[in-house]
Amino acid sequence: AAQMNHDMSTMNHGAQSNEPTTSLLDLPEGQPLRELPRLANQSATPGLFKASITAGPMNARLIEGIDTPMLGYNGGNPVIEVTEGDRVELDFTNDIPDEPTTIHWHGMPVPADQDGNPMDAVAPGGGRSYVFDLPSGSAAPYWFHPHPHEFTAEQVYRGLAGVFLVKPKADPIPAAYGDTVLLLTDIRLAADGTVTPNTPVDLMNGRIGDHVLTNGQRNPKIEVRAGERRRFRLINATNARFLCLAFENARMTVIGTDGGLLESPVAADEILLTPGERVEIVAAFDSPGPATLTTLEYDRGWMGPGKPDESRLALLTTSIAGDLAEPMPNLPRELRTIPALTNPAVTRRFVLSEEMGGGMEGVDHSSMPAAGMKFLINGASFDMNRIDTVSKVGQVELWEIVNDADMDHPFHIHGTQFQVIERELGGVVSQAPYPAWKDTVNVVPGETVRVLLRQELPGTRMYHCHILEHEKLGMMGIVDVQA
Ligand code: C2O
Ligand code: CU
Ligand code: CU
Repeated sequence: AAQMNHDMSTMNHGAQSNEPTTSLLDLPEGQPLRELPRLANQSATPGLFKASITAGPMNARLIEGIDTPMLGYNGGNPVIEVTEGDRVELDFTNDIPDEPTTIHWHGMPVPADQDGNPMDAVAPGGGRSYVFDLPSGSAAPYWFHPHPHEFTAEQVYRGLAGVFLVKPKADPIPAAYGDTVLLLTDIRLAADGTVTPNTPVDLMNGRIGDHVLTNGQRNPKIEVRAGERRRFRLINATNARFLCLAFENARMTVIGTDGGLLESPVAADEILLTPGERVEIVAAFDSPGPATLTTLEYDRGWMGPGKPDESRLALLTTSIAGDLAEPMPNLPRELRTIPALTNPAVTRRFVLSEEMGGGMEGVDHSSMPAAGMKFLINGASFDMNRIDTVSKVGQVELWEIVNDADMDHPFHIHGTQFQVIERELGGVVSQAPYPAWKDTVNVVPGETVRVLLRQELPGTRMYHCHILEHEKLGMMGIVDVQA
């Protein structure tokens, strides 16, 4: 992706507002990987998952002796685990002082009025229930996060995120591989251990923290045996960090994406996981010595000073603890079938653009008002009271997402999963290499990505850039899906 230097290069770089205030050395690493807490099912009825969930303040202990005030769901980042076909009833309370919130079920086929839209905010001190049925075929690694108007980015970087695993009735992945969830977040702390607020540079580029955390820990450790295979579900729950992943000294095979399993496993040396996306992999630990899940350099475009070095951040390290008693079963060649969406009834075009606002030359970026920057879809900034697109339940549509801006934008659509058909860049069209269900897709500058989708449920749905600061600054629209 192109560097963005224009307007910003003339700015005064004297301010230190985007300087990290702690060094990476300040967070301990290499502790045993913690499993995220599971939300317990309060119901004894088969096929019903029932629980209470509260968003509110919590203290995280990231550095010995220092409390970091954050936000959590029931005091952390829980995993909700259900089986396809189940009914889910969640009793939700907003304990966040002075801020509205919602829970959005990212990627999940839930009714529009249960999907935590910005227009369905829960007032501070208030509550509601979220109720939905998960149809068969919906098994996938989803996640959930707040989506209130104006507060989404802040509430997510302050800690609100959870994992929603919908399991299939019969899982083709060998149970011997285990099932390890890795929730990837990032954090930036001040010297006193508090989470620092967003700067204007964060608003433009999306917030990049100083530390990427895996299940809330810096580079935790797991033990594996030589020859072992492990299943990992990775969720990019950062506001804006592009994670180009590699597994040094292990063999990586992609088995699933946002919307669940692929048709067949695909070997991969690196995987770009942009904000909001998930991937399921099987890692084979065949070579001796430790393996490291790490990030590689990826240029996603950057405006102004403070471009972070995103390469070679260790996210998970293994140590070898002896040999396997017996070899592990192989991955099946066929995982499931993904019926192709075909014959779109309409084609819609969504052009993503950036507007820096006038009179920005010579402005000190540390005091630059966020109001000067806009991130637009089809030339418009988000308006909660405006319907941008009208669609129909059950209709296959072709959406062309065009990046007419200078940095990458991961585009996300609520309420359904889509199929990426092709990408066009510099006049060259490339077909998607294999079928996959996605709800978030990265679009690089100058690129057009074509996806096919069908909404099965009526109501209003959001679509937006999943760099949450861009969502906040207007890169979001509303589609009204009519029955
Ligand atoms: Cu992760 Cu509008 O969502
Ligand atoms: Cu979503
Ligand atoms: Cu964006």
